[in-house]
Amino acid sequence: MRVHESIYVDGGWVDADAGERIEVLNPATERVVASVPAAGPADVDAAVESAQNAADEWAATPPEKRAEHLAALRDALAARRDEAVDTVVRELGAPVTLAERVHVGLPLSVLDSYVKLLAEYEFEERVGNSRVFAEPVGVVGAITPWNYPLHQAVAKVAAALAAGCPVVLKPAEDTPLIAYVLADAAHAAGLPPGVFNLVPGTGPVAGEALVRHPGVSMVSFTGSTAIGERVGELCAGQIKRVALELGGKSANVILPGTDLGGPVAKGVANAFLNSGQTCSAWTRMLVPADRYTEAVELAAAAAAKYTCGDPRDAKTRLGPLVNAKQRERVRGYIQTGVREGATVVAGGTDAPREEGFYVQATVLADVRPDATVAQEEIFGPVLVVLPYGDVDEAVEIANGTPYGLAGGVFGPDEETAVAFARRMKAGQIDINGGRFNPLAPFGGFKRSGIGREFGAHGLGEFLEYKSLQL
Ligand code: NAI
Ligand code: MG
Repeated sequence: MRVHESIYVDGGWVDADAGERIEVLNPATERVVASVPAAGPADVDAAVESAQNAADEWAATPPEKRAEHLAALRDALAARRDEAVDTVVRELGAPVTLAERVHVGLPLSVLDSYVKLLAEYEFEERVGNSRVFAEPVGVVGAITPWNYPLHQAVAKVAAALAAGCPVVLKPAEDTPLIAYVLADAAHAAGLPPGVFNLVPGTGPVAGEALVRHPGVSMVSFTGSTAIGERVGELCAGQIKRVALELGGKSANVILPGTDLGGPVAKGVANAFLNSGQTCSAWTRMLVPADRYTEAVELAAAAAAKYTCGDPRDAKTRLGPLVNAKQRERVRGYIQTGVREGATVVAGGTDAPREEGFYVQATVLADVRPDATVAQEEIFGPVLVVLPYGDVDEAVEIANGTPYGLAGGVFGPDEETAVAFARRMKAGQIDINGGRFNPLAPFGGFKRSGIGREFGAHGLGEFLEYKSLQL
């Protein structure tokens, strides 16, 4: 695609000021498939300036009109569905079935959800003798990771645009190509110039320039907790609004008196989705101690079905990891787990294929709750199974990490499972396999982040409140 030569600023494709480029690999083949500009500070300045110039008019555009623009963006992206799927398969190595259903299907639903939400969202309310107006915060810097590259970009862009904020998007180094598909859709949808800008580049250069830019009123960041800390610090120095969606180590708790079969299979599927590169993945499975052996056997048998394959094959459930560094990191964690006493009951560190950054679907048993592999985010297809004595201990283990993003609870009935979930410190908990809801707030307790995405709560992140006393 020729546009990969350019960056998208002020409603058009322009040359980047910086001459450097970022090579994009296909993680299934380890070969370079494209390259994009590595934007520099001058490129970020140009993008932010164009967003600033567009800010007043976009803020003054009535919500129904903004909804029309978002609907046009949704339709333009839908028209590029095949290209989007192909792009996520190529640059991330996502299995094509997952790419269709989640990587591309979900962002389309999220765009649609904001179109609908704008029809009913109240940007003004009456509080006693005050009229309270919800006004857009201003230019948003959106920094996204590679694991769900379109979904995470759309989560930020759709909500910010709905709120009336122009956006400058800085996609992850590993997966910038899908952001080009989004920019192409934004262009085709006829968004006003400057309302959406794309500046690909590295985190330390383009990312930091965006975060530091005084013209950026808010930063919405998704990525590692380490970089989230850095971004938060930089924003604090300017009293700049910041939303952070960071890592997780989520627990899937199977309560006493629950049949193991379905919950274990669902838990394994959740842990290995997107090769385990999911911030909300249930990477710890908690089972009653008296059923531990049975649960481990079921988990190992379920994991054995997740064979690594060519992402382009519709039958493939497990693709590669995004890059060699992540593969080494994940293998390193498996080794650390074993060193600290874990038993590998499925998978392991052996390379499953000759090429590609693959790691086998791995299940670790005999893991203590304070072991490294039970505490740190691994971000690969590695599930640990932990036993608990009673329900209080299950709560303690579930809450016993620095994270608090998501979780699952399977119980003998809904009420018991909900009661348990109310004791968990996490932002998104699925009860007995409840499915993802793109209108429900998503985000983390504790070190998993600050703020929420999706639906009305996600839109609210990008608003400032102004009270007029009458
Ligand atoms: P990362 O946090 O380095 O990258 C996320 C985004 O932040 C990218 O767009 C990157 O360019 C940008 N960035 C990096 N340094 C920056 C800086 N100084 N200022 C502004 N932006 C900056 O994540 P990475 O290194 O790719 O992955 C490492 C680990 O992070 C993973 O193994 C996983 O544990 C975690 N992670 C969590 C994600 C989540 O969804 N919560 C997503 C991606 C990674
Ligand atoms: Mg990085």
